[in-house]
Amino acid sequence: MASERAHWWYAAPRLATDRTVRAFVAGATGYTGRAVVDTLRAQGIATVAHVRADSPRKDEYRDRFERLGAEIDNTPWEAEAISETLQRVAPTLVFALLGTTRARARSEGMAAQQAYARIDYGLTKWLIDGAQACAVPPRLVYLSAAGVRADASSAYAAARARSEAALRDSKLPWTIARPSFITGSDRDESRPLERIGAGVGDGLLAVAGMLGGRRLRDRYRSTDAATLARGLVRVALDPAFECRVAESEDLR
Ligand SMILES: NC(=O)c1ccc[n+]([C@@H]2O[C@H](COP(=O)([O-])OP(=O)(O)OC[C@H]3O[C@@H](n4cnc5c(N)ncnc54)[C@H](OP(=O)(O)O)[C@@H]3O)[C@@H](O)[C@H]2O)c1
Repeated sequence: MASERAHWWYAAPRLATDRTVRAFVAGATGYTGRAVVDTLRAQGIATVAHVRADSPRKDEYRDRFERLGAEIDNTPWEAEAISETLQRVAPTLVFALLGTTRARARSEGMAAQQAYARIDYGLTKWLIDGAQACAVPPRLVYLSAAGVRADASSAYAAARARSEAALRDSKLPWTIARPSFITGSDRDESRPLERIGAGVGDGLLAVAGMLGGRRLRDRYRSTDAATLARGLVRVALDPAFECRVAESEDLR
C-alpha cells in the first residue's frame, strides 16, 4: 500500500474509507437518499440515516438501513431536536436531500408554495443551523436542482435558491449539487409527468448533442439515483468541491 511506503513528509490522500468520515443523511428515505446511503456504506463510510419518526414505512427502512450497516435516527423534525442530534452525531458530512412535490403537497392539503417554503427550504435551513452549532462544522451537501437562480420565478426554484443562499451565507463548508431530472425504473413512485419530461428532454438533448450542443446535453439530461448518489458522494469527499456548485455534468 502506498501509505505504508510513504515518507514522513508525504501526506497520503484522504480516502473515502477514512474512518474520520461520518455522514448524516437527511432525506435518506427518498429515491436519491436511499442510493446515497447505499453508496456511503459500500465505501465503508459510517452513516446515520434519518427516517421520519412518523414514517409509515419506518420498519421497512430500519431493516433496509440496518442490513447496510447504517445507524438509523428518528429525531422528529423540530429545529432544536435536529440541532441536538447533529451535535451528538458530530458528522463530517451532512447530506440534505429533502423536498416535496406539487402532488404530495396537494395530497397533504397544502398549497405548493407553502409546502416548498416549509419543506424544501424550511427543513434544509434547520439542518444548516444545526450543522453550524456543531463543535466542528461539517460540510453540508445540498441537493438543489439544475437551472436554479437567485431570480427564480417558480415557487419550487425560489425555495431552492433560498436554501442555496442560506448555505452560502452560513459559516459552513458546503457543496451545492444541481442535477437535472432524477428518474429511473427503480423509483417506487410512478411520477409519470417527470418520467415523460425526462424521456422527451433526453431525446431532444441527444439531438442537440449530435449537433454540437454537448454542454447543453450534459447539463440537462436525466440521471438515475445510483449514478447521482455516486456523484454526490464523490464531490462531497473532494476538497476541490468545497464551497462550489456541482452541476449535472460533475455528478455523472
Ligand atoms: N426528482 C427530480 O427530478 C429532481 C431533480 C432535481 C432536484 N430534485 C430535488 O432533489 C430532492 C430529492 O429528490 P428525490 O427524487 O430523491 O425525492 P423523493 O424521493 O421525493 O424524497 C424526498 C425526501 O424528502 C422527505 N420529505 C418529503 N416531505 C417531507 C416532510 N414533510 N417532512 C420530512 N421529510 C420530508 C422524504 O421523506 P419521506 O420518505 O418520509 O416522505 C424523502 O426522504 C428533492 O428535493 C427534489 O426537489 C429532484
